Amino acid sequence: MASLSSKTALITGCNRGIGRAILEKLASLGCNIICATRNQTPEFEEFTSDLSKKFSVTISHIYFDLADEESIKTSLSQLIKTKPAIDILINNAGIAHGGIMLMTPLKKIKEVFQVNYFSQILVTQYIAKIMTKQKSGVIINMSSVMAMENFAGGSAYAASKAAVAAFTRSVANELAPCNIRLNAVAPGLIETEMGNAMDQKTQDLFNARSDFKRRGTPEEVANLVAFLVSDEAKYITGQIIRIDGGM
Ligand SMILES: NC(=O)c1ccc[n+]([C@@H]2O[C@H](COP(=O)([O-])OP(=O)(O)OC[C@H]3O[C@@H](n4cnc5c(N)ncnc54)[C@H](OP(=O)(O)O)[C@@H]3O)[C@@H](O)[C@H]2O)c1
Repeated sequence: MASLSSKTALITGCNRGIGRAILEKLASLGCNIICATRNQTPEFEEFTSDLSKKFSVTISHIYFDLADEESIKTSLSQLIKTKPAIDILINNAGIAHGGIMLMTPLKKIKEVFQVNYFSQILVTQYIAKIMTKQKSGVIINMSSVMAMENFAGGSAYAASKAAVAAFTRSVANELAPCNIRLNAVAPGLIETEMGNAMDQKTQDLFNARSDFKRRGTPEEVANLVAFLVSDEAKYITGQIIRIDGGM
């Protein structure tokens, strides 16, 4: 896998799940990391400190809650004042929701869209400004196969992930002249707290539809992300790339 040494990546929601696997993978390839998480915890800081020593990379922390626009603006404005070079943005953090449309209050759907879609745009606007000045950058958005497959109960989560996919395709066109690539990764069911929290019936449906009859691992998603952010993928942009064991 191509080295990412001398690059810097900002990863949202990297304290657990897929984001944490991406953090570990990119650090192992020599990438410096800015961890964007919601909370400061000694466990995660110890983990990143060990990772930083292990791979001789710099790992720093910023904090914001994607449900709170003001906290994103405050945190990213402070970061920008330090004039950081950011080569890679991974919009990973997200929340799940499953529920029949007729039983789902509009407030809940807006809440899911705020975290999974509107806040991703806001973060991208801040970081893409840095990238346009640099005339280079790579952005990965986390979509889902649920954006493309028919599953009951997806009026909030699946719809928000479909919005992420459309956003990715459209903005890839806009930012290509600035040498910035955008792609979305669309995982099937992955072994994380989010994947485990899905009701058993839906998990069984995912496994049945997958050719490998199993869930994916966060590390498998991280491997795909590491390839997509590397120069080996420099002709790939505006794509929604599924990683679903052949659904
Ligand atoms: N697991 C799957 O089967 C699957 C499939 C397709 C797509 N995805 C997508 O992949 C991404 C990662 O999923 P995952 O499975 O790793 O989920 P996860 O284990 O539930 O982790 C979610 C991450 O997002 C963060 N987050 C949630 N709400 C946030 C908020 N309001 N502000 C800031 N951070 C917030 C969490 O932080 P806290 O620890 O502070 O809560 C955590 O770091 C998500 O976008 C998800 O939709 C997952």
